[in-house]
Amino acid sequence: METKKLTKDWIGNKKSTFVTLGASSHSESDREDNDYYATDPRCAVDLIDANIGIKNIWECACGEGHLAQVFDDYGLLSKATDLIDRGYGIADTDFLIFNDIKHDGWIVTNPPYKFAVEFCEKALSITPNVAMFLKLTFLEGQKRLPFFKENPPIFVYVYSSRRKCAINGDFDAIGSSATAYAWFVWKDNFKGEPVIRWIQ
Ligand SMILES: C[S@@+](CC[C@H](N)C(=O)[O-])C[C@H]1O[C@@H](n2cnc3c(N)ncnc32)[C@H](O)[C@@H]1O
Repeated sequence: METKKLTKDWIGNKKSTFVTLGASSHSESDREDNDYYATDPRCAVDLIDANIGIKNIWECACGEGHLAQVFDDYGLLSKATDLIDRGYGIADTDFLIFNDIKHDGWIVTNPPYKFAVEFCEKALSITPNVAMFLKLTFLEGQKRLPFFKENPPIFVYVYSSRRKCAINGDFDAIGSSATAYAWFVWKDNFKGEPVIRWIQ
């Protein structure tokens, strides 16, 4: 897939193909307003290692590409979009306004958390194959109960050790992570009891 690339090699392996970023036209407040927390790219590897058949991925809130670039390196990415131009993928693409479109593959992202349910619902209206990196507390809450009853994930991959998300992509500025995360996976219109698995 042709995209703009990240500035840094977060993974540090030979697959990485990072080059200089283009400048963003958006202000810092735009960035924060839109809930920008970059995900530790190792989380993309964790999802790939789960062997659940992810392929042809649309990263629909790609930020600077911390997840998308790993998927691209593994030949799994078909497109990367974001509302804001953060120098990666296709900008000015509001995922929540899409109607009546389908994607023959997976939608995978760490969405803006304040719109997490909306992102899950929108993604599942586009494809039955979805993986979302979310706080583990996404499992709870009145608002989410009807969503989970209608759309049970097939797997919830819980992190045994903490992973970090960095506000505005600044991994140097964060300390130890106090937040527990999980990959929530929906596949093939599964309607049974979700299985919990653990990631080391
Ligand atoms: C939590 S960050 C995650 C970024 C990236 N997925 C990652 O894991 O590093 C959420 C991203 O969602 C984007 N975003 C917010 N609202 C959006 C929308 N309606 N459509 C598409 N992207 C959106 C933000 O600009 C931000 O880059």
